[in-house]
Amino acid sequence: MTKSLPAALALSLIAVPAFAAGDAAKGENEFKKCKACHSIIGTDGAEIQKGGKTGPNLYGVIGRKVASEDFAYGESIMAVGATGAVWTEEELAAYVANPADWLKAKLDDPAAKSKMSFKLAKGGEDVAAYLASVAPAAAP
Ligand code: HEC
Repeated sequence: MTKSLPAALALSLIAVPAFAAGDAAKGENEFKKCKACHSIIGTDGAEIQKGGKTGPNLYGVIGRKVASEDFAYGESIMAVGATGAVWTEEELAAYVANPADWLKAKLDDPAAKSKMSFKLAKGGEDVAAYLASVAPAAAP
């Protein structure tokens, strides 16, 4: 009995699906859904994606510190940013699927709130791959 516990633990770790990298071309198309609120403006001011200003600029967001743009972020995402968290493709895909739930989990606070009211049902990993390609040192 004492030996079966670590074995069960190991199995449960294996059962967690690995994050599959997305398709940037599909993600660029999906980004149309984000444009209502987000633009992508390069450091030189070039409009890579002309969009809304309800949300922060998403240029170079992968590898960027959470909530670090010049933007009036909500309290909860600011608290995540204060931990030094940085956006990875995996975290971004999880965030866009349900921003409020992501904040609640990160902060271990059921009262956490998101100013982003949008949820992307599927294709978050594709959008993340696209966003990773729109950055100063764009991945090939
Ligand atoms: C209805 C408007 C709206 C839509 C649509 C929307 N967002 Fe957002 N987004 C926001 C707002 C507002 C925030 C700021 C959240 C906060 O302060 O809690 C935000 C924040 C973010 C952040 C955090 C950025 C940072 O600087 O830390 C990411 C990443 C993000 N959005 C990605 C996306 C993606 C990808 C899509 C499309 C799949 C999308 N958003 C669609 C409004 C939107």
